[in-house]
Order: sequence, then C-alpha cells, then structure tokens
Amino acid sequence: MRLSPAGTVAGHIAVPGDKSISHRALLLGAIADGETLIERFGRSGDTESTLRAVRALGVRVLEEDVDRLRVHGVGLRGLRAPAAPIDCGNAGTLIRLLPGLLAGQRGRFELTGDESLRRRPVDRVAEPLGRMGVRVETAEGRPPLVLESDGEVRAIDYRLPVASAQVKSAVLLAGLYAAEGGRTTVVEPRPTRDHTELMLVSAGVRVARRGSSASVEPVERLRLPSVDVPGDFSAAAPFVVAATLLAGSELTIHGVGLNPRRTGLLSVLERMGGRVAVFNRRRVGGEAVGDLDVRSAQLVATAVGAEEVPGMIDELPLFALAAACAQGVSEVRGAEELRLKETDRIETATSALRALGVRIEAREDGFRVRGVPTRIRGGAMDSGGDHRLAILGAVAGVVSGRGVEVEDAQAAAISFPGFFELLDSVARRA
Ligand code: S3P
Repeated sequence: MRLSPAGTVAGHIAVPGDKSISHRALLLGAIADGETLIERFGRSGDTESTLRAVRALGVRVLEEDVDRLRVHGVGLRGLRAPAAPIDCGNAGTLIRLLPGLLAGQRGRFELTGDESLRRRPVDRVAEPLGRMGVRVETAEGRPPLVLESDGEVRAIDYRLPVASAQVKSAVLLAGLYAAEGGRTTVVEPRPTRDHTELMLVSAGVRVARRGSSASVEPVERLRLPSVDVPGDFSAAAPFVVAATLLAGSELTIHGVGLNPRRTGLLSVLERMGGRVAVFNRRRVGGEAVGDLDVRSAQLVATAVGAEEVPGMIDELPLFALAAACAQGVSEVRGAEELRLKETDRIETATSALRALGVRIEAREDGFRVRGVPTRIRGGAMDSGGDHRLAILGAVAGVVSGRGVEVEDAQAAAISFPGFFELLDSVARRA
C-alpha cells in the first residue's frame, strides 16, 4: 500500500476499544459466574483469537453487535479441555494470560500460534506456573505450550525477572485458584500496565497493591456484569504522532484510555515540546479515560531510559519516528524487550526507518536517532507482518516528503482493522 504525504491532519476521531482490556474482558468473563456484557470491544485479529479460544474452551459468546459481546461465563473452574490445540494466532497476550486460567482447570491443554508467535518466549509463564504446581511444557521455551493440571494451585511470591504485564497477569490469574488461605504476590521490577488488577477489582476480587507488588487471594467466584472498554491508547498514538509532526494540524481523539502505565509517550512528547492537551478526564470501570487535543509542534530530542520503557513499550517505534523529526540526538536504552515482540522491533523499526532516510542506529537495548526538523524523505518499507510496523510505515508516509510504500500493510488489522481508512479520513492533502 502507498501512503502519500499529507499537509495536515485535522478533525475529530475515536479509536477502537483497547486491545489489552478486550482480551482480559473475554478471559475474565469466561470464568465469571453469569453474564458479562462487553461494550466497545476492540475487534481485531488478536482479539478474534481470544474469542475463538474461549469458545473452544466451551464458553458461549453472543455477538450482539460488532463491538458489543455478551459472554456467558462458565464459572471459575468450568472451562473444558478441547480435543484440538488452541490456536492463539498472533496474540502474545492470549498465549501468556490464558495459561493462568487453565492452571485452575482439570485437563490437558495445548496452546500454539502463527509463525511469529511460535518464535516468542513462553517460558516466562511456564516457569512461575511450574512453581505453582502446574505441569507446563514448552518447545525450548517457545510454543506449543502444553499445560496439564488437576486444578490444584499453590500460592507463590514471585519476583518478575522482566517487566511484563503479561507474566504478572498470568501469575495473578493462577493465584485465584490457590489452595485456601494462600496469597499470591507478584513484585515487578518496574510498573507495567495494571488492567488485570483493575478488572479483577471490578470482578469482586480483593487485590492488595503496595508499591511495586500486587497480591490476590483465592476466590470462590467472580462476577463481572459489564466492561466498558476505553479507546486504545496504542491505537491513538499513531494519530498523536502524525498530528504533532504535521505543521498546522489540529486533531481531537475522543474517549482514549489514559491508564498512567500506558501513556509514557505523552510525557515524553511533552518534554520534547509536543502540544497534547487532555480534557474531559473521567473514569470508566476503574480505568482513566479522556479526550486528547493534539496540535503540531516543533520537537527537541530527548533520552528515554529503562524506567520509562514499560509505559511506552508498544509506542517506541512511533517514538523513533517523532525523534527523527526532532532537533538533536535522541536515544532509547533499556528496551531489550522490544526484540521479543511480533518481530525484533529494534531491528525491524530501525531498518525500516533507515530505508526511509532516517539517521537511526540500533543498539543492543534500544536505538539512537539523529533528528532533523524537516520531513523525512520516504521510500519503501516492509512490515514483516508486524502490525505496529505497518502502522509506523503509514504514519511515516503521511509525514514524509515523497510518500511511503508499505509492504504487507494489512498486518495493521492484527490490532487495528480500519486504521488506513481512519488515517485517510483525517489527512488533508499536501
Ligand atoms: C500487553 C503487555 C505488553 C505489551 C503487549 C500487551 C498486555 O507485553 O507489549 O502489547 O496486554 O499485557 P509484555 O507483557 O510482554 O511487556
């Protein structure tokens, strides 16, 4: 697909429901007692994988509208082992969170995924679940992941070796099934997104949170009558960056999830001179939500360190693009986790941007960009099947001088079907 340069981006938009929260709503709805009504469900390739997975486990889900689902929960221990392996598609969040729930079921479950997912580490969940008394086997740390349980789980105190919301979530979910009185605690090296903790609280679970730790006690049942999913900050981010970089832009993005553990990009853009105003702040089911008003700005370079990485992990490729147009040298350190995403995003993002004329170098744990406050040149890049790369290429195209040809652009639908149409609807021709 070819993305032509735009003059400005302008108008009012809303983005799809948050992907992380949509996965969690289906998974918790599946093991709740009674119905869970999910509104503004973020339908995407990844969340369709979760929908298929919970159905394969015996859960009935009615699709009342594209973004309105009714999950008929089967209760905490009511999931049924399917005969066939569960295909998690491209969804890392699914293959890492689901084992937490399966720990408390009886049976043998096999989880696998597409080629990209089968290259990604799952030993990070196998290891703590093993300590909790669940048998989990992997193919040298990668999928397929085979889990066998008799439903008995031991509570543990677990210090996460990496800052990962997915691993934290898997351990907390398994902790719901621990033998009576056992309290499962997870300590994180750096704060990661806490959607699981917030949704567990909505479902009636007592979650104790102190500094960098979160604990759950076993429960008899969950009740999650409804989840209203906020707009996905990670889906808003490409529009925030496009509007920031294109002089004269004025874009309003309504109903965006602003969980403070997700919005690192906003803090970083602010210190670079970005002009993003948040208004109409509210809370939707425990999650912070607001509207964003983005104006174009001249950016200056900045350094992003390890402590800021988890809060903007999925936005780092877009940060690289913003940094390419900022005055001076920017860098990211402590982001080695990027190498374990749908692609090795240190490699794929830096080589894609280099092909478009950006002076960027990969580092073992991040990258370094020499920014120039003009339009990047443009050219051709390949998403490599990675949705965040397809979206990066598209934003690079609209802010470039000559446009960008994005190979394998349809990968964007893994997180954001309709992305290109929405981008086109706000792009005013140069
Ligand atoms: C996610 C957590 C992050 C993030 C991913 C979604 C989640 O992954 O990159 O897109 O929904 O919990 P890690 O837990 O591997 O950091």
